[in-house]
Amino acid sequence: MYMVIILGTRPEIIKMSPVIRECEKRGLDYFILHTGQHYSYEMDRVFFEELELPQPKYNLDVGSGTHAEQTGRIMIGVEKVLMKEKPDVVLVQGDTNTVLAGALAAAKLHIRVGHVEAGLRSYDRRMPEEVNRVLADHVSDYLFAPTEKARQNLLREGIDEDKIFVTGNTIVDAVYQNLEIAERKVNVLRELGLKPKEYFLVTAHRQENVDVRERLKGILRGLKLIREEFSVPVVFPVHPRTRKRVEEFGLDMSGIEVIDPLGFLEFLQLEANARLVLTDSGGVQEETCILGVPCVTLRDNTERPETLEVGSNVLVGTKPERILEGVRTMLNKENSWKNPFGDGRAGERVVGTIV
Ligand code: UD1
Ligand code: UDP
Repeated sequence: MYMVIILGTRPEIIKMSPVIRECEKRGLDYFILHTGQHYSYEMDRVFFEELELPQPKYNLDVGSGTHAEQTGRIMIGVEKVLMKEKPDVVLVQGDTNTVLAGALAAAKLHIRVGHVEAGLRSYDRRMPEEVNRVLADHVSDYLFAPTEKARQNLLREGIDEDKIFVTGNTIVDAVYQNLEIAERKVNVLRELGLKPKEYFLVTAHRQENVDVRERLKGILRGLKLIREEFSVPVVFPVHPRTRKRVEEFGLDMSGIEVIDPLGFLEFLQLEANARLVLTDSGGVQEETCILGVPCVTLRDNTERPETLEVGSNVLVGTKPERILEGVRTMLNKENSWKNPFGDGRAGERVVGTIV
């Protein structure tokens, strides 16, 4: 059994890390193919270093571009590698252009595809990620659904139940494996002059939010409102897409603690100690739920409905007053929900199913 793990962006490196660790532990014949969709040090290399992951055997260096350009370049590069290496199985994770292109290139070569984090649906086709998820699921041979809900989504689309495996989400493994390491290795609160539970943490990078001036402006205004009402620092490690748009739209980020994107250990520690997190990230909605930290999601829908059900998360969109209201609501609630994303052994189940 010869396997390829394809990845290309920050969340894929983090969420594949438990699968990679499991492959290493079992001494499997596999390699990592990096598409180069993310390439800045703080979006890419930092995670290989902190999580002590093996070097990719190939990096396609595709970089940024329009959706078709990026997806096309990845397909062309992946196809060449797969034709040379002839693996039995390709693994992809999540919903990025790397995932769609990797899955499609492999399926056309009749190589089995395993999709980690299959079956998530926002039912919002304006999101590029929704298109990627649906298509990747439908060309996959192993669908690793993180939850029962995700499995049900797949069954409703007519996917054969024999292909679906409920494994839990590998982000639980990643959080459990790294939280303690973070405690030992980093002290980001001291570095940033923050006190536990006395700051809010923010991330925002979704195309449908930050590429639309009014929505990005609404988010920034909302952050200022909460800063005024609660008088605690609002810390915002800014994704490169967002930084570019803030400059392009000439928006004002004063009053917000703007910092560069952080490594996973640092970010996990900041998340675990935050009073509340505001985000439009998928992974951050899950991590806050796992860590017992309340979350306010700057979107109108979510493909992580489990977080709404257990009460760790609320959807507020991007209007300033609604953001403020959502923060008030979440701060008045008990943080005593149960993590719905699994037991931290998802990586083991994914690899165990394939070998
Ligand atoms: C991509 C994924 C998104 C995921 C996110 C994780 C798609 C369609 N989108 O969005 O699902 O949530 O990654 O962070 O696959 N840039 C840099 N350095 C980098 C990478 C990007 O400066 O290392 C800048 C470039 O200006 C680029 C922009 O960010 O144009 C957007 O990058 P891109 O990979 O197209 O999409 P993301 O917004 O990162
Ligand atoms: N993350 C990080 N540093 C940061 C912001 C986020 O390490 O400055 C991590 C976070 O812990 C989570 C992942 O990046 O595991 C989420 O990635 P992102 O929000 O870019 O993508 P999404 O999950 O929305 O696809």
